[in-house]
Amino acid sequence: GVDTLMRIPPSVLKQHRSKSDAWSAFNGKVYNITPYLAFHPGGERELMRVAGRDGTELFAATHAWVNADFMLDSCLVGFLISEPSPSS
Ligand code: HEM
Repeated sequence: GVDTLMRIPPSVLKQHRSKSDAWSAFNGKVYNITPYLAFHPGGERELMRVAGRDGTELFAATHAWVNADFMLDSCLVGFLISEPSPSS
């Protein structure tokens, strides 16, 4: 459920950029893309370009018609938030 999802800043997203542990953000939602890597019609290499970072722009540039929200629903990890300031 929604209460088990995390709030993820870019610095944490960045820690998940390997093939065995790949997260990416699309439209504010962070997904674990690891299980999908082998199935991506555009290939693993293309998908790994957005591992550990916000893939919204690249995704929109390649296939805006694909519904990632629907496809990756079971891989949702949480929501991308802005980096907390050091003082907070
Ligand atoms: C193709 C899904 C991320 C590059 C496709 C197709 C799907 C898909 C369903 C087939 C589309 C069609 O035939 O109309 C996804 C999902 C993504 C994702 C769910 C997010 C997790 C990306 C990213 C890139 C990318 C980030 C680029 C860096 C491509 C390319 C193709 C493709 C180049 C075309 C392959 C071809 O037809 O030869 N993707 N994609 N994809 N994807 Fe992705």
